[in-house]
Amino acid sequence: MLVNARDMLVKAKAEGYAVGAFNINNLEWTKAILLTAQENNSPVILGVSEGAGKYMTGFTTVAAMVKAMVESLNITVPVALHLDHGSYDGAKKCIEAGFTSIMFDGSHYSIEENIKKTKELVSLAHSKGVSIEAEVGSIGGEEDGVAGRGEVADSKECKMIADLGIDMLAAGIGNIHGKYPSNWQGLDFEALEAIKGETEGMPLVLHGGTGIPGDMIKKSISLGVAKINVNTECQLSFADATRKYIEAGKDLEGKGYDPRKLLAPGFEAIKATVKEKMELFGSINKA
Ligand code: 13P
Repeated sequence: MLVNARDMLVKAKAEGYAVGAFNINNLEWTKAILLTAQENNSPVILGVSEGAGKYMTGFTTVAAMVKAMVESLNITVPVALHLDHGSYDGAKKCIEAGFTSIMFDGSHYSIEENIKKTKELVSLAHSKGVSIEAEVGSIGGEEDGVAGRGEVADSKECKMIADLGIDMLAAGIGNIHGKYPSNWQGLDFEALEAIKGETEGMPLVLHGGTGIPGDMIKKSISLGVAKINVNTECQLSFADATRKYIEAGKDLEGKGYDPRKLLAPGFEAIKATVKEKMELFGSINKA
């Protein structure tokens, strides 16, 4: 069932778990995530970066594929189709294309400009029943060409953005996209507590879910995180399983080169990673 992300996040926050937002790249990714959500009776968010949207030939293609797949696979758990780290124009295009949720990442603008643009997009998104995520304090690392310095968000600025009527807030707390360096200092829980205090009731979003230890994930959820984004970890599992298949020479046995066989181990690996995250986030049987 394709829905916006608002209700699923309000429920998650109230019941003390988080909904996983998994980035999609193609049909295999989408199918693997949807089936895992359904098998585990879990709500789920499909994240689409602007780069991945372009790769899949545009947001309208993505929206049509997801809508059709939800129907043809008989997916009854709540699914949100969400733009990840969207630009102002990208967010508008996704609303038009039929996405049910958008993220406007205005963290690289001044706070005044971020507020102005977020405010405009809140009224546009809500007029179409689309939920909206905003960002304060950039997420470190790089994802699909969007790079951030990894600032820790200012709680007062978080309040200013939260007060615009957004549905979820991404606040930088030392999290990074991609693999964490060995000298990473961990999440800044003092900052998260301050943000929680200033934005009471707002579902918070933890980006850079790949490689964050389980105890930090659980503590974040206890401090108001209701959506956790995971991208790199599915890519790593897919690549690892595919490499093993090729290295074992399976593509050279019989019709092992058939793409449906060649991509099957990677597909199963994504499913296993998604299930593991849903267990950790506590979203299983919460649909
Ligand atoms: P990772 O690639 O580190 O899992 O981050 C995903 C993310 O935050 C998507 O916005």
